[in-house]
Amino acid sequence: MDLDTLSDYALEIALEAGQLLKKGYGTLFTISSKEGKHNLVTEYDFLSEKLIIKKILEKYPDHFILSEEKGKTGEEHSIKWIVDPLDGTVNFAHNIPMFAVSIGVMKDNEIIFGVVYNPMTEELFTARKNQGAFFNKKRINVSDTNLLDNAFLATGFPYNIKDDPLYCIGRFAKILHLGIPIRRMGVASLDLCYVAAGRFDGFWEVGLEPWDSAAGKIIIEEANGKITNWEMGEYDILKKMPILASNKHIHRQIYEALS
Ligand code: IPD
Ligand code: CA
Ligand code: CA
Repeated sequence: MDLDTLSDYALEIALEAGQLLKKGYGTLFTISSKEGKHNLVTEYDFLSEKLIIKKILEKYPDHFILSEEKGKTGEEHSIKWIVDPLDGTVNFAHNIPMFAVSIGVMKDNEIIFGVVYNPMTEELFTARKNQGAFFNKKRINVSDTNLLDNAFLATGFPYNIKDDPLYCIGRFAKILHLGIPIRRMGVASLDLCYVAAGRFDGFWEVGLEPWDSAAGKIIIEEANGKITNWEMGEYDILKKMPILASNKHIHRQIYEALS
């Protein structure tokens, strides 16, 4: 398996799917709800996913794909593609140009390549295992902020926020009380990339799915950041779990503030 070819191809697919979303942005498209009325899905989530799966299978017919709307495609394989065809659906549905295509590629259960692309702003984040992380082809690194009091953080809320899973509302309030600036962009994959690029110093959310975080995880790690669960333990990309991402220096401080 030639990993250069595979990574280049994943990048090409993300760019193509991004252009499809850009074409659809602001047009009349169908919008419906999934589980829970606020969890939206548009025609373009499906169109983008269809394009991505088709392209992957054209070149790699036996690879395994996990994608948000369709679920599993293919049999167990050492290469797994983990795909969010449209991250930030609620933004897309409301004509807010903040969304992305996110593709992570795993080999033997380790992410080896990630790409997150916002076609509206032409922001492209990529990372290859042990080869660094890049924003529009320029190397990126996390910030060096080492005091939570000086930090700029981001978070996200799950679609079942009214159930207050893991007391996430109270934890959010605790961080709000610190008085530091916080953003909620509505695009987890980009939140993670913004940490990687040093724009945010940290990010947390109570329950991300594999497709939200697969690409972002390698992009943060290759930018010298850190990702764990909320207990400072391993963040398992294949399970839905709470995530804490940071520039490393303030990781423990965010953990303590959240606890
Ligand atoms: C959502 C976004 C959002 C995050 C949610 C995700 P979707 O993904 O990434 O920022 O807070 O947890 O589900 O539904 O737009 O693909
Ligand atoms: Ca998502
Ligand atoms: Ca999605």
